[in-house]
Amino acid sequence: MASTHSDLITIYIIKSDGSQAPLDVPVNMNLSLMEVLRSDGYPIPGTCGGIALCATCAVDILSGNEKLSPAGDQELDMLDLLPQSTEATRLGCQIKLRPEMDGMVIRIDSES
Ligand code: FES
Repeated sequence: MASTHSDLITIYIIKSDGSQAPLDVPVNMNLSLMEVLRSDGYPIPGTCGGIALCATCAVDILSGNEKLSPAGDQELDMLDLLPQSTEATRLGCQIKLRPEMDGMVIRIDSES
């Protein structure tokens, strides 16, 4: 269910076991998807610290992809290196949370 607080949106996380969990995230702190997932305890290593060099923050955007900015060249280069990458795969560190992403559904496959 979407939050009614203007500074919070709700995104939905599909975990590798198939379960789904809502996550309320702030959109007024310039945080990335990788940062909020990590801070909530999801297994997102984010090894490079968010500069699109490690791809350990890759997630699949199952719903809401059209609301995201297109991937940049560096992100596309990293995604090309991922064997399991699909058109829905994005680097979480390159996605800044914005109000229009409310209701977005993402899948996390990493269990590392
Ligand atoms: S945290 Fe390294 S590519 Fe996103």
